[in-house]
Amino acid sequence: MNIAQSTTWSQRFETALHPLIAEFNASIGFDIELLEYDLTGSQAHAAMLAHVGILTEPERDQIQQGLETIRQEYRQGQFNPGIAEEDVHFAVEHRLIELIGDIGKKLHTARSRNDQVGTDIRLYLRDQIQQIRQQLRQLQRVLLTLADQHIETLIPGYTHLQRAQPLSLAHHLLAYFEMAQRDWCRLGDVLGRVNISPLGCGALAGTTFPIDRQYTAQQLGFEQIYANSLDGVSDRDFAIEFAGAASLIMVHLSRLSEEIIFWASEEFGFVTLKDSCATGSSIMPQKKNPDVPELVRGKTGRVFGHLQGLLTLMKGLPLAYNKDLQEDKEALFDTVKTVRGCLSAMTILLAEGLEFRPQRLAAAVAEDFSNATDVADYLAAKGVPFREAYNLVGKVVKTSLAANKLLKDLTLDEWQALHPAFAADIYAAIAPRQVVAARNSAGGTGFDQVRQALQQAHQTVAAD
Ligand code: ARG
Repeated sequence: MNIAQSTTWSQRFETALHPLIAEFNASIGFDIELLEYDLTGSQAHAAMLAHVGILTEPERDQIQQGLETIRQEYRQGQFNPGIAEEDVHFAVEHRLIELIGDIGKKLHTARSRNDQVGTDIRLYLRDQIQQIRQQLRQLQRVLLTLADQHIETLIPGYTHLQRAQPLSLAHHLLAYFEMAQRDWCRLGDVLGRVNISPLGCGALAGTTFPIDRQYTAQQLGFEQIYANSLDGVSDRDFAIEFAGAASLIMVHLSRLSEEIIFWASEEFGFVTLKDSCATGSSIMPQKKNPDVPELVRGKTGRVFGHLQGLLTLMKGLPLAYNKDLQEDKEALFDTVKTVRGCLSAMTILLAEGLEFRPQRLAAAVAEDFSNATDVADYLAAKGVPFREAYNLVGKVVKTSLAANKLLKDLTLDEWQALHPAFAADIYAAIAPRQVVAARNSAGGTGFDQVRQALQQAHQTVAAD
């Protein structure tokens, strides 16, 4: 049927695969993404085989050069294996044999596709995690730039999506900085468990050859080797952990997206979307739609789905390798692509796609009862037990609402009729800026705290 099948399988097989089964079985359509990692892994394996005397040095050199030729062919778009090759590992081996002849047949000594594919996906993920961490840093830098500009810009703070207490907008933005910081650390943690070499675990039980697993691990930059060959070829915990960390990144991006979407609505009006990051409607000429955050919010589901998919993939697998494991790849590739795309889009949106509207924000914080806690705190500071003060202010809010007034509109006589502890300084105490400034407890929104947090955040991103 094809060269791949007639040459790959041992003489045990008499007939070729049914064409539809060949297609069903093949992973080359997607695992070609691993090609360069596969080549690098094979080059290290060949080096090790020579190091322990299984290959001669000239054989090693020929194999390594052949693999390098495949890399160049691929980069120039000239290496396009099809279904007949089944997967990227066979595709490389066949091409190598085509290029260098029989010596190429020695490469697979003391190795199985099981430890080979495990090596490839770990090298791939290690690379991607490093890049995602850099993207998180870029997002953090953009958040910091915005926060620097908006220390004194006030924004309503919400609980239950009800106006609660006003905030420094920088404080609000820094909350997302912190989430991104946890994501960055979490990925660093996952990296430690990705960066372990399964190479040399063989099909499942190790190998009869006197290989040196530390040698390949070192060549490939792995920190450790798997201690148990069965575990080495069948472990995908690291992939699930990665999908978990990716899911949390998406949770954070999706929450920010949700806020941007309602901030951009007519009802909130806290931000304007710039033309470079918004789209129109095909029928309603007045519309400007927040497609970017909507897509980020929407794509979150597929990453969660991949996490669920990977967990389910693993839950019933007996040791060691099972072909089910071929299903890990598309989940990982799509997770990486989705998270990276969303991080880039969100970073661009924040850097140049939206503008806060200070007047709308200032008006929003001035026209509500989000200073009510401060009235209670004012009385409590003068010795009135807090619960008593709280009840009294609740009453004031009720009567003010009925009279269509805000707290700032009450006269001093009205205040003093409520409680003799009120004095003229109540007006300053409940002005939005003062309400924010006064929350100077550690980690609070008070401007001094926010300035300190900003300084700390700048140090964090400068540190690596
Ligand atoms: N394409 C396979 C995968 O992605 C490679 C390993 C195949 N191993 C095997 N024993 N059939 O998992």
